[in-house]
Amino acid sequence: MLENARLKVEHGVIRTFHARRGRVTKNQIYALENYFSQFELPEGPWDFKELFGTKNIYFEIGCGSGESTIGFAKANPDSIIIAIEVHRPSISHLVENAHNEGLTNIRVAYSDGVQVLRDWVSDKSLSSIFAFFPDPWPKKRHNKRRLFRSEIVELMLKKLKPDGQIIAATDWAEYGKQMLEVLPNSKLSIRPSWRPITKYERKGLAAQREIMEIISQN
Ligand SMILES: C[S@@+](CC[C@H](N)C(=O)[O-])C[C@H]1O[C@@H](n2cnc3c(N)ncnc32)[C@H](O)[C@@H]1O
Repeated sequence: MLENARLKVEHGVIRTFHARRGRVTKNQIYALENYFSQFELPEGPWDFKELFGTKNIYFEIGCGSGESTIGFAKANPDSIIIAIEVHRPSISHLVENAHNEGLTNIRVAYSDGVQVLRDWVSDKSLSSIFAFFPDPWPKKRHNKRRLFRSEIVELMLKKLKPDGQIIAATDWAEYGKQMLEVLPNSKLSIRPSWRPITKYERKGLAAQREIMEIISQN
């Protein structure tokens, strides 16, 4: 199951996530043992041509339980979406739901999306990068952990095709402002038609926070 897809965390790198263990229930272990391998990618570096032919490749960092991933995959059956997550219980939900929906255009890695992007994805190969409700790291001293900071944005831009896009959403106004500042040619946008309301979005809405949808065109 996840044995050969173990999360590898580099030391000395400012991570965008908490190293939470994430207790896995019996049902989740069942899902991981039975469905993960259908969606697993081999270790990279990846040759997308060899793996997927001429299909367009989309990349999601921090997919959580994969509501957006599944929405995208259903709406875009001819494209591939690679979803990366560091929280095992969330991955178990994603693979179970993707299996139940019969989706074959999702691939999953249990890994740090930033490292994967840097080490396993070729330059100029992605059609879009998605990050929905990335951890806002609201305390000032933790801001440096944010996914949308300049060095990670630079990496994202390198991996996008010339006309590629970065699509994000946040319920954290001050982080939204940072995203608009750090992402080139970015603007507020509308929710992509394929994106359902996600778990973390529901939390933001329940707390009466405004949702910002952001798009950046390479
Ligand atoms: C606030 S949650 C949002 C989850 C989901 N996108 C949603 O909208 O419900 C952020 C997620 O990003 C994951 N995450 C943070 N940094 C990551 C990284 N570098 N690579 C992969 N996952 C990451 C966390 O484990 C967490 O599940």
